[in-house]
This record gives sequence, structure tokens and C-alpha cells, in this order.
Amino acid sequence: MERQGTAGDSLSAREDGLLLKAEVEALRASWLMTAPNPRVGALALKDGHIVGRGRHERLGGMHAEEAALRDAGAWPADSPEPNPGHVDEIVVTLEPCSAKDPEKRRNPCVESLLAAGVERLLVGALDPDARHQGSGLMAMEEGGAQVRLSPDPSPFFAMNGAFSRSLANPDRPWILLKWAASLDGKVASPPGGPRWISGPESRDEVHEIRALSDGILIGKGTLEADDPFLNARPASGPRPEQPTRIFVGGGESLAPEAHALEKAGPRIWVLEPDGGLPPWMAENLKSGEDHVLEIPRTSDGFDLGILLSRLRKEFSLRRILVEGGPGIHGSFLREECVDAVLIYTAPILLGGRESAFPAEVAAPLALDASSKEEACLGRDHRVAFQVVEAS
Ligand SMILES: NC(=O)c1ccc[n+]([C@@H]2O[C@H](COP(=O)([O-])OP(=O)(O)OC[C@H]3O[C@@H](n4cnc5c(N)ncnc54)[C@H](OP(=O)(O)O)[C@@H]3O)[C@@H](O)[C@H]2O)c1
Repeated sequence: MERQGTAGDSLSAREDGLLLKAEVEALRASWLMTAPNPRVGALALKDGHIVGRGRHERLGGMHAEEAALRDAGAWPADSPEPNPGHVDEIVVTLEPCSAKDPEKRRNPCVESLLAAGVERLLVGALDPDARHQGSGLMAMEEGGAQVRLSPDPSPFFAMNGAFSRSLANPDRPWILLKWAASLDGKVASPPGGPRWISGPESRDEVHEIRALSDGILIGKGTLEADDPFLNARPASGPRPEQPTRIFVGGGESLAPEAHALEKAGPRIWVLEPDGGLPPWMAENLKSGEDHVLEIPRTSDGFDLGILLSRLRKEFSLRRILVEGGPGIHGSFLREECVDAVLIYTAPILLGGRESAFPAEVAAPLALDASSKEEACLGRDHRVAFQVVEAS
């Protein structure tokens, strides 16, 4: 089988055209919803005609191949696997997954493609993860399919900066910093000001984004000032498991009636080594939902490098939404562990001193203008950018 970057024969005009269509399908997905997974698009064909299109739309959701099979009518909603006879060819921008990885939330795509009777597979890029690279193509060939691979994976990588950045930082989760600000860039209401800065449509979206995150992280100041539930309450319905809530400091002084303790779901309390536990926490730890992570402090608070690597290794967290406040956001910036930012701007002027980062944070962050994703949500404007890769 020819491999990318080798002298394999180039694709035919028909294959080039089909891959282009699959890329267009991938571009209809939002990296804000899929990262750290890539945006992937797929076509399902029967007798040379496109009968289905699909894309990977959200982290933890259907892969593009499954979406295309379902679109083609090959995979009824009530069936555990697709039916043969509807699709004989699949075009997909990334090598289909083949590993039964406990961190993956779905069955391997190669199994579904073979069950659907796919005889030909055209792929835009090999899986860049060395642990899986080539195994999807090999499994398809072993299953009797004819496999073609594009010699040029650059279109796949050009649209998947967030995925590449996550692969380059395998020892920590992918980090999305989020805040809501007034038009004058303030993130906290003065006394007597509105409880919420952003409107209900923005807050609904935040619940969707929380729901597809593995973890949601806040600092001590926000825990104490806002007393948040911090769980995911998406309009699309609850996900089977709540994201893990991570509290950086403040657990020791928390009142037992705090909202954070009310809702079910895993919680991680970041505390100083040998700091001692309040009685309610010692009791909660027995339930298995609460965990304590003892993390050493630097002059800037808890050591975020150690914290993030433990969250990745010990809790398998791949994507964390950091909801602030400014102190925490400032530390993430200083430690250079931010992958993307998500900002909701409301048409209000708040005044005051509380900006998104403390004044002493002098850590300019270059954002990739080409990655901009924006939306109007009610009266608010939402924008998301990926961070520019250091050269
Ligand atoms: N508009 C928004 O989107 C938004 C979102 C969140 C919060 N807020 C607002 O922001 C305000 C709270 O912000 P804040 O800056 O005071 O609190 P914060 O960022 O939530 O927490 C900061 C505190 O956490 C502790 N900490 C421990 N390790 C840290 C580390 N590595 N980096 C940073 N902090 C660490 C520090 O306290 P110790 O030194 O005592 O450990 C620090 O003072 C509230 O008014 C809240 O309403 C707004």
C-alpha cells in the first residue's frame, strides 16, 4: 500500500474531486466543538454516486464515517451497526480509527465500515498519532477493501490546528479559556450591577460547551464570589456523565451548603500538600465523586504544569474549559498553557477595575486570525480564536 509522502501514484481527477467535497464537509464543522479532535468530513457512495455526507461535529459525538453512513440510510437509528447493501465506497479526510481505546467514546470506525460492506476507501491523511498510524488502512485491507491514500495530507492539517496543537502537547489537556466581558472589557459587575454579564443565549451555548468538555476549572476567587454550580445543563439534554469540576484552591474554606457541592458529578479539589481537609470534604471523599489533588505552590499559586499533567495522566482529561477568574486566566497565560480563547462580549459598560487578566500579567498572546469563529447570540457577540503556534 502506498503511504503518504512516499512516491505513491497521485490520485485521479475523480478521487481529487471527491476528497475536495469531503474537505468541504469537514469545514462545515466548528473546531470549537470538536477540539482536541480534528474536523473530519466523509462521503458515502453507492455505484459511484454520493448517497450520504457526514462530519465529526462535536467531541464525543459521531465520527464522520458514521454520520455519512447514517445519512445514506445505511445505519438505522435503532440498529447497533450498519446494514450492508447501501454503501460500497467511503471517502474520508482522515484515516478511520481502528483502536478500541478506553478514552474513545465510540466503537472503531473500521468495524462499522466493514459491517456496512464498504469495498473501496479513499483517505485524505494518515492518522498522525504514531500509535495508530496505518492500522485503520491495514484493517480495511484485511477486511477485503481496496484502499487509496492521498499523497498530500496538507488540506487536512490546514484546517486542524487545534488537533495538531493538542498532539504537540500530549502531557496536558487541551485548554480553552473562556470569559464574558462588557464592551469596556470588564469581567465583573460592580456592587449593584447585573448578576450576569452575558445574555441567556450565550449562557445556553456555554452549557453546550461545558457538556462536551472533560473538565471545567475555576479559581478560589470565583468559587467564593460567584458560588457556581459549575455543572453542564445543555438545552440538548444531559450527557451521560457530568464533566469533572476542578476547583483550584478555596476548598478548605468552602461552606458545606455551597452550590458546587449540591449537584452530582465528579469534583477535584486542588489543595496544598498536607493542608488538612475540612470535615465535609473528608466525608465526601468516601463517595468516590470527590478527589483531592495535592499540588505544590510556586510564587504564582498552585503549579499549573504539575496540575495539568496530573489531570491528563490520572484523570484522562483531554479538554478543559477554564472559566476564570482573572487570577486563574492570568496564570494560564503566564505558564503558556492556553490553546484557544472564547470570549462573549455583551452590550454593556461596567467600568471598574476587573479586566480579563490582572494588570501585572504582561504575557501577550498571539491569536490565529484565520481560526476565528464568531456568532451573534441574542444581544451578545461571541468570538473564538486558537493561539498561534510558537515558531
Ligand atoms: N466574566 C467572567 O467571565 C468571569 C468568570 C469568572 C470569574 N469572574 C469574576 O472574577 C472575580 C474573581 O476573580 P479572581 O481573579 O479574584 O479569582 P480567581 O481567578 O477565580 O482565583 C484566583 C485565586 O485563586 C488562587 N490560586 C491558587 N493557585 C492559583 C494559580 N495558579 N493561579 C491563579 N490563582 C491561583 C489565588 O488565591 P490564594 O493565593 O489565596 O490561593 C488567587 O487569588 C469575581 O468577581 C468573578 O465574578 C468573571
